[in-house]
Amino acid sequence: MLDVACGTGVVATTAARLGARVTGLDLTPELLDRARENSRTAGVEIDWLEGDVEKLPFDDAAFDVVISQFGHIFAPRAEVALAEMLRVLKPGGTIAFSTWPPELLVGRTFALLASYLPPPPPGVSTPPEWGDPTVVRERLGARVGDIAFDRATMLVPALSPKHYRSFTERTAGPTAKLVESLAVSNPPKLATFRREYEALVAEYFEDNVIRQDYLITRAKKI
Ligand SMILES: C[S@@+](CC[C@H](N)C(=O)[O-])C[C@H]1O[C@@H](n2cnc3c(N)ncnc32)[C@H](O)[C@@H]1O
Repeated sequence: MLDVACGTGVVATTAARLGARVTGLDLTPELLDRARENSRTAGVEIDWLEGDVEKLPFDDAAFDVVISQFGHIFAPRAEVALAEMLRVLKPGGTIAFSTWPPELLVGRTFALLASYLPPPPPGVSTPPEWGDPTVVRERLGARVGDIAFDRATMLVPALSPKHYRSFTERTAGPTAKLVESLAVSNPPKLATFRREYEALVAEYFEDNVIRQDYLITRAKKI
């Protein structure tokens, strides 16, 4: 199995624990260090590799399963990333990924962040596009069969929307980058962003958890 954009190795380590032979690939060396530590702690062997989903360093048809948990969606060229994930997958193999629907918390957070940033260059895809089943179906096209969609919920513990906001400012790359830059360039604008973000998060906060619903896509390569 290949875990694309594996980050700290959550899926890769889980799959290895269940008996899969796993390779985890990510762009960020610091996260791969954490992934190595996590797999050591779990007592499983995984091949960790630094690399870009748009240029996977593997032969064609090298894997039975290719997955990405909230990872490949960050590649600026969606078509290139998907073509690579399908190239390294065997015919009959499974591709699966989880993504953020644009109309729910994380998708709406991407839209809020975008409203504070210059527009992306033409042709650059954005993460929440992957949360729309119509877009996913179009992108996968005739290269796969047996497409199945599902939805699930990630519950994130938090004491208040403000706690969650401060947690994501430290841990979620795009939010951290925006906050860092506004803190220097425009503190009043940062205060407005924080107010808007907390109001958004409040809609999903209940009983000390934040509800993050996501889309799951699974398909078989033809
Ligand atoms: C939200 S994290 C998800 C990490 C992991 N899959 C998880 O579920 O915990 C997104 C990951 O995508 C990685 N990433 C972003 N662009 C990438 C690219 N072009 N190729 C490979 N990894 C990439 C980041 O380094 C980061 O680890």
